[in-house]
Amino acid sequence: MKLVVLISGRGSNLQAILDAGIPVAAVVSNNAAAAGLRVAQERGIPTHVIAHADFASRLEFDRAVQQAIDAYVPDLVALAGYMRILTDAFVHHYTGRLINIHPSLLPSFTGLQTHARALSDGVKIHGCTVHFVTPALDHGPIIIQAAVAVEAADTVETLQQRVLAAEHRIYPQAIRWFFEGRLRIDDSGRVNLSCATASEQSVWVTGG
Ligand code: GRF
Repeated sequence: MKLVVLISGRGSNLQAILDAGIPVAAVVSNNAAAAGLRVAQERGIPTHVIAHADFASRLEFDRAVQQAIDAYVPDLVALAGYMRILTDAFVHHYTGRLINIHPSLLPSFTGLQTHARALSDGVKIHGCTVHFVTPALDHGPIIIQAAVAVEAADTVETLQQRVLAAEHRIYPQAIRWFFEGRLRIDDSGRVNLSCATASEQSVWVTGG
């Protein structure tokens, strides 16, 4: 099974995927300054930078990214902090083999600044979600979620840290399930995990 990871920045989820022993065929970034590129390079993983500013349109940019990805003939493409809005053509090209990690319990808090919005709304449970990507931003079929208890003293930073630690647990898990061929999207658009044990199916709730 071949995995290509798309990043724009720090690359801590990429690092977690690699630390989990999951092989990554290549890393693609729209940002030459992405720290995550070094994470890949240190491990001898090929990296490709495709700067969005070099392209006249989103469509042309996405086509170039697609070409770089497809050179590896990946089974799965994982967005890990990839900060570009995707064209429908790109998303359709990778239907059923494009996944994303989002720092909220979807469908709550799609988009940006999820931790600040969670705090300002006073939610008591926050978390993160790995989902298949569909054209509607942050709305695709949910694969796995981790819940994090919000504490009275939380700031954006402290909450973000605990959610990120949860991200690092569930992203490798979702990829393993995909590679094991255990993820099926049913007719109603929901993900079923085949042969799931009770503990695999339960939501992960982490404390402080
Ligand atoms: C993560 O919080 C992820 O959920 C979001 O962007 C952030 C990327 O962090 N989509 P990193 O680059 O993996 O450290």
